[in-house]
Amino acid sequence: MTGSTARVFFAAWPTSEVQHALGEVARQAQHECGGRAVPARNVHLTLLFLGDIARERLAALEALGSAVVSPGFTLQVDRLEYWRHNRILWAGVEECPQPLRILVERVQQAAAAAGFRFDSRPYVPHVTLLREARRAPKEDRFVSVSWPVTGLALVQSVQKERGRVYEVVRSWPLTA
Ligand code: 2AM
Repeated sequence: MTGSTARVFFAAWPTSEVQHALGEVARQAQHECGGRAVPARNVHLTLLFLGDIARERLAALEALGSAVVSPGFTLQVDRLEYWRHNRILWAGVEECPQPLRILVERVQQAAAAAGFRFDSRPYVPHVTLLREARRAPKEDRFVSVSWPVTGLALVQSVQKERGRVYEVVRSWPLTA
C-alpha cells in the first residue's frame, strides 16, 4: 500500500454470479445509452462512502466493521434508473428492503460514533452500471437479479494505470 490516505467505503460485495449478471446488464445498456460500462469485477453496492481517510484510521474501520451485527437478506434488483445530473445509469430496487436500511443505519451509527464523517443525505441503494451515459434507456429494460447479501465489506478504491480497482480490505458475515 502506498500514500498516507486511502479512499474507502463499506459495501455489499456481490458473488461473481451476481457481478456477471449485472455486468452483462451494463454491457447491453451501453449499446443503447453509450458511456462507460462498469466492468463486472467492479460491480458493488455502496452502503457508506467515507472518502479519503488517513491510513492509520483503517484499523478503527476494521474494528467497527467487525462489531456490526445485522441479518443477511436477498436484494431483488429489479429496475434501471438514470441520473441526468451525473449521467449515471444504475440498477436498483423498487423498494429498499428493511434489512438493508437497518444495515446501513448500523454502519452509519458505528462510523459516526468512531468519529468518521460522511454524507448524511438519505440513502438510495444504487449499483452504478454506466458512467457518462448519454441518456436513459428508451424503454423499460427488464432487470431481475437476485442478490444474496451475506456479508459486509470494507473496500478500498485504488487508481491504477488501467483504471480504478476496488479491493476488499476485509469482510464479515452478516448474522443477526
Ligand atoms: P457512484 O457509483 O454513484 O459514483 C466507490 O467510488 C463507490 O462510492 C461508488 O459506489 C460511488 O458511487 C460511491 N461514492 C463515490 N463518491 C461518493 C459520494 N460523495 N457520496 C456517496 N457515494 C459516493
